[in-house]
Order: sequence, then C-alpha cells, then structure tokens
Amino acid sequence: MMNRVGLISIVLLFLCHWSYSQSRTNYDEEQVPQFEIPDPLMTFSGEQVEDAKTWLEKRRPELMDFFTTEMFGKIPGELGMTSFKILEEGPSTVYSGALRQQVKISIIKGNSQLDFNLLLYLPKGKTKAPIFLGPNFYGNHSVTLDEKVVISDAWARNNPSYDISDNSFTETSRGVRSYRWAIQDIIDAGFGLATFYYGEIDPDKNDFSDGIHPFFYQSGQSRPKNGEWGSIAAWAWGMSRAMDYLQENEKVDSDHIIAFGHSRLGKTALWAAANDDRFAAAISNNSGCGGAALSKRKYGETLAVINKSFPHWFTENFKKYGHNEEKLPVDQHELISLIAPRPVYVASAVEDRWADPKGEYLGAYYSGKVYKLFGKSVLENPEMPEIHQPLHQSVAYHIREGKHNVTDYDWGQYLKWASDVVMKEK
Ligand code: GCU
Repeated sequence: MMNRVGLISIVLLFLCHWSYSQSRTNYDEEQVPQFEIPDPLMTFSGEQVEDAKTWLEKRRPELMDFFTTEMFGKIPGELGMTSFKILEEGPSTVYSGALRQQVKISIIKGNSQLDFNLLLYLPKGKTKAPIFLGPNFYGNHSVTLDEKVVISDAWARNNPSYDISDNSFTETSRGVRSYRWAIQDIIDAGFGLATFYYGEIDPDKNDFSDGIHPFFYQSGQSRPKNGEWGSIAAWAWGMSRAMDYLQENEKVDSDHIIAFGHSRLGKTALWAAANDDRFAAAISNNSGCGGAALSKRKYGETLAVINKSFPHWFTENFKKYGHNEEKLPVDQHELISLIAPRPVYVASAVEDRWADPKGEYLGAYYSGKVYKLFGKSVLENPEMPEIHQPLHQSVAYHIREGKHNVTDYDWGQYLKWASDVVMKEK
C-alpha cells in the first residue's frame, strides 16, 4: 500500500503539472480548442436577427449591456467636460505646415476636479481637418521632440530606458515615443492628430484611489463596485471627454474623428468607439486579448493571464471567465460589431504572437456579419491575408512584419484607408 508521503508526492506532482499547463502560453495552432463562434445575429434568447433595425433595437443593446457589466464595467454616473482652456497655440517648428494647440480640459464634480491636456497638430491650410484621436503611454511630450509641449506632472511608470524614475516625467523622456506617431505624414495627408496622456485620466496601476474613479465613490468606498468600470473604461471615457472638446474646435472636422489606439489603448479605442458614436471610425493596432483577438482561441495571452497581470483593467465580473472561456456567451468579434456601420481597422504584427494575430483577424472577420446588415464591405476570406497585403474595406485589416509596435507602415495604411474609406462615409 502506498504510504502517505507517496500519496502526497503524487498529488503535488499532479498539481505542479496542472498549474504548469495552465500557465504555459499556447503558441501552437494545434492546441487551439474547438469552439463555436457566438453568432452576433442571434439574441441571447435564441432569436435570429435579420435586419439592421432589429440589430439596432434589440441585439446591439443586449450585447452592449453584456460588454458593459461583464467586461469593461459601467460608469456609475453621467459626467462630461466642464470647461476647456487653450494653454498655448502656434506654428510648429518641428513639422512643416502644422499648427500646434495645447488645451487643458477640466471635469468638475462637487469639490473634485480632473484636468488633462490635449495636444493637437493640425494641417495649417485646412479650414476643418479630420483627425485621429489617440491616447499615449508616456505623456504628450514623449510623442514629439517639439520643445513647446508641456510635460505632464501626473504619475508615470518608471522606465530606465527612458530615464523615467520617481514616477515622474522630465525632459529626458521628450520625444522617446515620437517614432510611433507619424505626425509629419499625418499632416501631409491633410489630417490632424490629437493625443493625451492616459495616466491623466487614470494612472495605470491597480489602485483606484486616484484618477477619475473616486469621483463617483460614496462615503467609505475605495474602489468601484463589481460591474462598475475598470481602467480601460476610464481611458475610453477620457477619449469621449476629448471628443467633447473637439466638437467645439472650429479647426476640426467633427464628423471625421477617428479613435486610434495601440495595444491596451487599442482595446480602449474599440470600447470608446462602441460607446460613443461621435467617433466616425476606430483603429485598433495590435490590441490582442480583450481587444480584437478572440478569447476562446486561448492563443498567446489568455483571460486568466490578463486578469492576473492587470486586475484593474476590467470589471470584477470579468475574472470569472479566466480558464473558463467556454462560459462566455460572446467573443471579441461582437465587441467590434458594436461599432457598425462605422468603419473599423484591425492591425497585427507577425512577431506579436502574444496578441494572437490570427485571433485578431478572426475578430475582424466575424464582425462582418453585422456590417453586412448595413450593406458595408467586409473581410470575405476566413483565411488571413499575407504580410503586407492590406485589405481596406469598411472592416479593414493588415498584418505587417515585425514586433508589437506602431510603425510608419501602419500609419501609411491608416492614412490611405482614412482617405479612401472613412472620408467617403459622411
Ligand atoms: C501587455 C498586456 C497586453 C497589452 C500590452 C500593452 O503585454 O499583456 O494585453 O496589450 O501589455 O498594452 O502594451
């Protein structure tokens, strides 16, 4: 008979093996489980949706509700921009033909006030420019070498490669991310760019005592309740407050403001555009898990992993789907379809396996069912295209060589698509 030590060893061995297999990242297409793609055109009660009207009146609201309460979390109240102040404006010496504007946007509720700075570059010659609105990771001063750009005093993530320490930005990080923002190309194509530091809306850490969340706390409360918003919903809310201001800027073509974001901010751009139909279109660059990639594929980053590493991004309810993707009655193609009929662009990078390029393609591909209800052009092929073979429909996609990043190639595609597709919409 096996003694106790033997039995305990076997149990321990089994547990180790189980936890190893749970934590190992799957990069093997063979290990992708069989699953059914939830039908965006079938209501939760099993009714088939056959036209755009039923989609808009019945199916879209229930999906919106699901993504709100189970994934990103609900904003506990209404809160818009209270005021704005032009801090500075003038011709840029860094980009030819560009006008720079810096605007402080304020939100006030009771005794609390949140300010964030929007940086704009607009093409000088245009009376009203279509623009890309995208939050940034390291402060407005990091996207450009332009010395006039104000350095944020918000909490910053330390990063030795950018000389960021003591959780604060200094001159050392000016321009460190300029390679990700093709500002001269954007201006030359007749578009503008608006960007803000996402940490001014909510610092990206598992701490809900700062940023916008406390504005809604009742006495004694220190974090959002279950079902209430996490950080991604807060950043998306920030994009809508920037939108409040952009509606008032006479130099902006307010019918053509495109939500843009990379990675966690690509997840954010999708959610912002789903919630706010003032966005004419959305671009999600390498957004991966919780963005454009299908969760049920369990390839690269999974729900269990994202919820563990970034517990503050989603609402508490979302945690129950970790290692339990089968229980999800939706998948990310339905998040994308909430943006329909407005154009949407999903982009991947070959070496960005963590974000699951194929899952991102399929997310965009399966949203097509909804876009088709509106007569829009979609991705027709269930197989993904080759590298550098962009598909520019209302639902657009490309995969490029290289890593998790935003490159000039990406911007080249976005600019072309924005001119050829988004500008023709309204
Ligand atoms: C991590 C995270 C991703 C996220 C990325 C980013 O890699 O796991 O989900 O997209 O950070 O925002 O850069």
